[in-house]
Amino acid sequence: MHGSIINLLKRFVQLQYDHSTWLRLVELSGLSNADFDMNTVYPDAHIFALVGQAAEMTGIPAAQLQEKFGEFLVPDLMLVYKRYVQPEWGTLEMIEHTEEAMHGAVRRDAPGTRPPVLHVRRQSAKELEVTYESERRMGALAVGIIRGLAAYFDETEDIEVTPLTSEDEERVVIRVRQR
Ligand code: HEM
Repeated sequence: MHGSIINLLKRFVQLQYDHSTWLRLVELSGLSNADFDMNTVYPDAHIFALVGQAAEMTGIPAAQLQEKFGEFLVPDLMLVYKRYVQPEWGTLEMIEHTEEAMHGAVRRDAPGTRPPVLHVRRQSAKELEVTYESERRMGALAVGIIRGLAAYFDETEDIEVTPLTSEDEERVVIRVRQR
């Protein structure tokens, strides 16, 4: 997993809790270093261990933590990749263009990364069906990112995000509907 995501996880833990909680989390996860380079790609085992331990430490289910983390991630992701965003886009258009615009840029610019594949089907003017595919099984993070995008575009009240299948499978179907 790309170092930028792990660094954002670090910031998320520091802000929700404190720095010593982050250090304890790293230690409990069996990792030797609490600092992660922004441009290095780390083994997926690192993020799995961190999320798993965080769930154990806090008693909050891993899926719920991933959703909250996904929401938190969005403003920073958008800051880094905003040159790929068109001014007229809202939440639905952003999701429709993530594959080619955002994850495409990640695959191109950061060799070794493997963002999930998102199949996005426009069901109607107000509804998308997003199929997340990744062997990492982080569909809950995807749900959180979509909610975070709705907040980013100031559409939280209008956008309904519903996982239609279990969030911890390699393939997760998510319905995104504008009220
Ligand atoms: C909005 C702009 C977005 C940016 C800039 C972005 C960027 C990234 C980056 C850098 C990674 C790390 C990839 C790696 O280390 O291999 C990643 C992973 C991920 N992205 Fe995105 N992403 C965006 C939107 C989305 C959206 C809309 C979704 C869901 C619908 C999504 C779902 C995920 C998930 C779940 C992962 C974790 C890795 C996995 O599950 O395999 N992303 N993304």
